[in-house]
Amino acid sequence: MCGIVGYLGPLDPKDVILQGLKKLEYRGYDSAGVAILHNGVAKQVRASGKLQALEDKLKSENFNGRLGIGHTRWATHGAPTERNAHPHQVDGISLVHNGIIENDQDLRDELIKDGAKILSDTDSELVAHLVAREVKKTNSLQQAVENILPKLRGAFSIVVIWNQSPDEMIAFKDGPPLVVGLGDKENFFASDVQALLKYTKKFIYLDDREIVRIHGQKVEVMTSAGQPINKKSVEINWSPDLVEKQGFAHYMLKEIYEQPRAVAAALESHINADTHRIQLKVEGPTASEFTNLLKTTNRFMIVACGTSYYAAQVAKYYIESLVKIPVDVDIASEFRYRSPILDTNTLFMTISQSGETADTLAAIRLAKEKGLKTMSLCNVRGSSIDREAFVKLYMQSGPEIGVASTKAFTSTLTLLACLALDWAKAKDQLKSEDEIKIVKALLAAPSQIEGVLNYDKYFNEASQKLKSYRGFLYMGRGSSFPIAMEGALKMKELAYLHAEGYAAGEMKHGPLALIDERMAIVMLCPQDQWYEKTVSNLEEAKARGGQIIALGTGEDERLKSRSHFYLPLPKAHWMVNPIISTIPLQLMSYHLASHLGYDVDQPRNLAKSVTVE
Ligand code: G6P
Repeated sequence: MCGIVGYLGPLDPKDVILQGLKKLEYRGYDSAGVAILHNGVAKQVRASGKLQALEDKLKSENFNGRLGIGHTRWATHGAPTERNAHPHQVDGISLVHNGIIENDQDLRDELIKDGAKILSDTDSELVAHLVAREVKKTNSLQQAVENILPKLRGAFSIVVIWNQSPDEMIAFKDGPPLVVGLGDKENFFASDVQALLKYTKKFIYLDDREIVRIHGQKVEVMTSAGQPINKKSVEINWSPDLVEKQGFAHYMLKEIYEQPRAVAAALESHINADTHRIQLKVEGPTASEFTNLLKTTNRFMIVACGTSYYAAQVAKYYIESLVKIPVDVDIASEFRYRSPILDTNTLFMTISQSGETADTLAAIRLAKEKGLKTMSLCNVRGSSIDREAFVKLYMQSGPEIGVASTKAFTSTLTLLACLALDWAKAKDQLKSEDEIKIVKALLAAPSQIEGVLNYDKYFNEASQKLKSYRGFLYMGRGSSFPIAMEGALKMKELAYLHAEGYAAGEMKHGPLALIDERMAIVMLCPQDQWYEKTVSNLEEAKARGGQIIALGTGEDERLKSRSHFYLPLPKAHWMVNPIISTIPLQLMSYHLASHLGYDVDQPRNLAKSVTVE
């Protein structure tokens, strides 16, 4: 959601900003713009639609200044038009903003009363007016930003420049992520490190209510009242190559294909491949503190959004079965506005690929406030959620660019299986032979995924035939139930088709009424403890004329003879099945969406990192 890039240094800001904004495209946006110094004045160029439209406009533009800001906008207040695109300019001030100003109506009324000419429908322009009004009084950009902050309510990150101070950028963060990139004789702002990896690996992650002044080659971080703060920088070891498509048609396809590697990387530091023993390596507490925490905790709660929420649902099956403690799973936007019953003997986990999802972030903060021990499972080290958590666990998936999450999901499932094993061990619930068996099964997963990917051509062909269906019902039992929901989510996100994930046993309580020959029934039927019951549900759907697409284990003749399409998967442990079954569902939706001509990496109306609630 909204991407920000700011640059001050010897390179051409136009190139740096455009390169950076391209790397932030995955966040989702519908217009873009830049303001770059030229002959001492920040020249504004904006366009609605994709970055290409902005790039085309910028082709004939040259800038001789070395300071500039750029933005990709995901519309909240006002349509995605050029007029509403950022940067907004008022009397020599240029400003970009990510987030929402909640008291925008009051500010608008006040500014209009004061004679301001407001040109857009956005809340962001109002902030530019406030800064412009204040800088006239203070003659200091930093002071102007400090003075207006108490007037703003909401969640926002802003970067602002001023024609009269061509060597300076000021940023403020309260909510949406913002990082400072530290280069040699150059410094940057960006919403995400990925925008800047080509230029630097050294970053400062900003916390809420911090102001940053980049002035010449100096970077100063301050409190919102201007008090200096000593912030540590971190080195990020992701290479820019990891953020490229590397010959794949889409980032999403590349990320689907990276899953064998991503799952192996998720396992690597927690499993001893020789002894087949597990020891979860977390950051935060020491190993013995963590084991003790697991030993003494009798309830587990996981809160997340979207695909991460479905991963949490799978964890419920893993942990209740192995650790034998109750597990509650909740959607972050629901959890934070309920009155959840929280007791301090609960370990509270949030799962978030980005580590920036606003609702999930608010949920972990709430749990902390209530005195619970918190744990995060994130892909982005140093992200807001990661920084909040007491115990930190990392997906190790590498950057995920496709808006619809793929490799982060399977890495998450892998780590949740490891957590279940480690926890069961801490509670003396795991027999040594079971530990070895499950660890071996997990270690086999990467090559089994590889095997499924070899069938891609077949999934592609099958997906061509799915265009004519009116809707999709994904069904599964046990740990396949959340995978059914995840499969349906992928179909909605990518192919814009109506799809629902259901517990197969619930079919007769409603969904059966939907079934006819135009309804595809995707049955997840691996040979596990739920197999027989799921086959009965398949029969019920078939008897009503549903077109069955079944996923099963190996050459399962029983399933084959009852299905229109049968997709064979390798035989795996029940805890590994969810990881393996996810792959064909991702590929089916991916191919169908591509055949339909949709933007697979950036589906309409969606954003990768949902930094507003
Ligand atoms: C957005 C993305 C989804 C993602 C969800 C949660 O909706 O489009 O792919 O699953 O956010 O994101 P998180 O980063 O918290 O896992």
